[in-house]
Amino acid sequence: MERMPFGKTADGKEVSRFKLTNAAGAYVQIINYGGIITAINLPDREGRLGDVVLGYDSLEEYVQDRNYFGAIIGRTANRTENACFELEGVEYKLGKNEGNNHLHGGVAGFNKALWDAEMVGSKDGESLLLSYLGKDGEEGYPGNLQARVRYTFTDKNELVMEYGAISDRDTVVNLTNHSYFNLSGHQSGSVLGHKLMICGDRFTPIDSALIPSGEIRSVAGTPMDFMELTAIGARIGWDDGQLLHAGGYDHNWILGNGGKVPEKAAEVVDETSGRVLEVFTTKPGIQFYSGNFLDSVLGKEGALYGKRSGFCLETQYFPNSMKHKHFPSPVLKAGEEYRSTTIYRFSVVA
Ligand code: BGC
Repeated sequence: MERMPFGKTADGKEVSRFKLTNAAGAYVQIINYGGIITAINLPDREGRLGDVVLGYDSLEEYVQDRNYFGAIIGRTANRTENACFELEGVEYKLGKNEGNNHLHGGVAGFNKALWDAEMVGSKDGESLLLSYLGKDGEEGYPGNLQARVRYTFTDKNELVMEYGAISDRDTVVNLTNHSYFNLSGHQSGSVLGHKLMICGDRFTPIDSALIPSGEIRSVAGTPMDFMELTAIGARIGWDDGQLLHAGGYDHNWILGNGGKVPEKAAEVVDETSGRVLEVFTTKPGIQFYSGNFLDSVLGKEGALYGKRSGFCLETQYFPNSMKHKHFPSPVLKAGEEYRSTTIYRFSVVA
């Protein structure tokens, strides 16, 4: 594993970029600012390496970024309505960073934190262990939360993300990664031709602020039906209320897994390059976001990322789950351990 300097934060702290290489010569780059995955270089069907995640060249651009490129999201992913929740009769007010709502951990979420980093060996491949102490009251959340993320890049081209956390007070935790993929290569333009399958037959409909209303709806007969591999763009332009709210896909699908071992949640096939991404997780939900808000973002190597030039598959507890008691609970009790695993497995088809 290599460790290279990647600039300094505004308060003078060194940021490093780590390179995890596997036996096949594929590699992943991660910085300890935001735990951001800055590159994932994988072979296409011809064996040519290409970088399949959107990103920037410099630390300054990641500091300015509002798209959450590649970052770890915490303390809670996605939206909390009115930026407040109630836990054991006490109301907590969170940072508002999207109108009246709280998105992706607030103004200074875990994606803007400097994480401690340790390179560790593992039988499965090179690993990077990141840790960060989210303070009691930070962005309004209760409890000092010691969070850990271990990234391992295996010889089978799997990026394994193991999340852990422990708090000294009862709190809420919902950690994810916000990588934007384009399996043709990060600079390849639209992802609408990629084919997607999601292992869920129900989703949580949103309102015009993109917040789940609490309803659980079948995907049957709707453009949300990705039970079989279907082009992302096949129905994205339909005159459908759910798509219109979000300007495309930006919804949470309900996965049927038991939460103990990672189970398959989604698959994406890019017939152009032959690259395939499979997502496995212990989490109960997955947000499929079709990059609707990307708007001429100047990225790595001079790339210009337009609308829908990358997609995200963010494993998670359902958004706004503190408001809807029938959603799986993101509450973490004091002293108990939060654990979840998500795997991005890459391969190629002929
Ligand atoms: C959300 C989108 C949001 C994007 C970047 C996604 O997880 O679902 O609505 O625009 O993150 O903030």
